[in-house]
Amino acid sequence: MATFLVRNSNPLQGSIRINGSKNAALPILAASILAENGQVVLSSIPDLTDVRFLCEILQGIGCTVAMHADGKVTVDASRITNHITPYDLASRMRGSFLVMGPMLARMGICRISLPGGCPIGSRPVDLHMKGLRALGAKVTQGYGYIEVRAKKLIGNKIYLDFPSVGATENILMAAVRAAGETVIENAAVEPEVVDLANFLCAMGADITGAGTDSITIQGVSALHGAQHTVIPDRIEAGSFMAAAAITRGHITLSHVLPAHVSPVSAKLREMGVDVREEADQITLDATRKFHAVDIKTLPFPGFPTDMQAQLMALLSLTEGTSIIVETIFENRFMHAPELQRMGAHIKVEGRTAVIEGVRSLSGAPVRATDLRAGAALVLAGLAAKGDTEISDIHHIERGYADFAGRLRSLGADIHRID
Ligand code: EPZ
Repeated sequence: MATFLVRNSNPLQGSIRINGSKNAALPILAASILAENGQVVLSSIPDLTDVRFLCEILQGIGCTVAMHADGKVTVDASRITNHITPYDLASRMRGSFLVMGPMLARMGICRISLPGGCPIGSRPVDLHMKGLRALGAKVTQGYGYIEVRAKKLIGNKIYLDFPSVGATENILMAAVRAAGETVIENAAVEPEVVDLANFLCAMGADITGAGTDSITIQGVSALHGAQHTVIPDRIEAGSFMAAAAITRGHITLSHVLPAHVSPVSAKLREMGVDVREEADQITLDATRKFHAVDIKTLPFPGFPTDMQAQLMALLSLTEGTSIIVETIFENRFMHAPELQRMGAHIKVEGRTAVIEGVRSLSGAPVRATDLRAGAALVLAGLAAKGDTEISDIHHIERGYADFAGRLRSLGADIHRID
């Protein structure tokens, strides 16, 4: 199995172009199922294992999918034949669950294995099911599969007990073809939800309020192909900012939307890191001393849970005591024991972690337990004394394209060992 070999690195310097967003690309690829005629042409799709898995799932249900080297992906969904997603793919990636809403709207039926993905919590899908039932779907579960059926979808008012990103997206992709009006209350407001809504409108959907906690959809009779460029990845941007900060470096990020990264930029500024924003650029200068802060993860525009592990690594080497409260997932501190193996002083109690900054970490063999935990270990390895070998890097490669190569372009000493 491939590993990352990470060594103590000089302060990162230079500029990096941010890729398209994984968490926008996945629902938008799933939404392509709704295009009954005409081709979908997507740009800025990141080359990630999760994206490739989803493209295989689309092919498995009869779509013609072509992935090009320049980040362009074309999908022709005019001849969908199958409503069952292949177990071996769907079970490996939670994002595959996003085909449920569009398949239900397009075919009236969808059978999918219960979602897999990162082991960061139980990851239930009750809110997805609540929404699809409200639109008239019959939901049955058994033998590791969930099946939803509906001869016709009827618009309804749906209240989400939690502003779930995936549930908002699945319900949105079903409601665009439901007869009449649907209102999603307490909807997720993440930028990736807005990007999906913009793509659906380009396909002929009628959606207002995306980006607010109340989204209104007027059902339409059919959707057609469209062109769309996916937004930049705010979590990849934040991860490179944290990599520059932990090495006390100075970097510029291009092809980024600063407003989407603002919760992370604000927290880094609170620490004393210099973060400057321009149109589609962010410059970070961490060459001066900075200090500990407290973090509480919240739905957007709060501090993103997907940046919690990376900031824990940074705070492990920041003078002072920091407290992190993880409010989104019940088990998202699995990077803490791995960081402790490198000498970090972290105490975890339930959803709260207390970090005492230390002067140095020491390289060690560690394991990536999930996508963002793996990224945190790479960051720690860049600043630790000695070598850090990270195993199970397939988790990392689900969400970061050529992570080692792109960090090396900023001066990092990191190599992928096959
Ligand atoms: C999306 O996951 C992202 N994934 C996650 O990013 C991200 O951490 C998460 O949103 C929160 O921002 C993609 O977009 C592909 P949720 P999702 O539904 O949709 C509970 C990464 O690192 N919940 O908003 O699965 C759930 O258990 C990944 O890129 C229910 O209780 O997240 C969790 O505690 C990790 N019932 C909370 O809501 C449901 O039906 C947030 O989940 C659905 C969710």
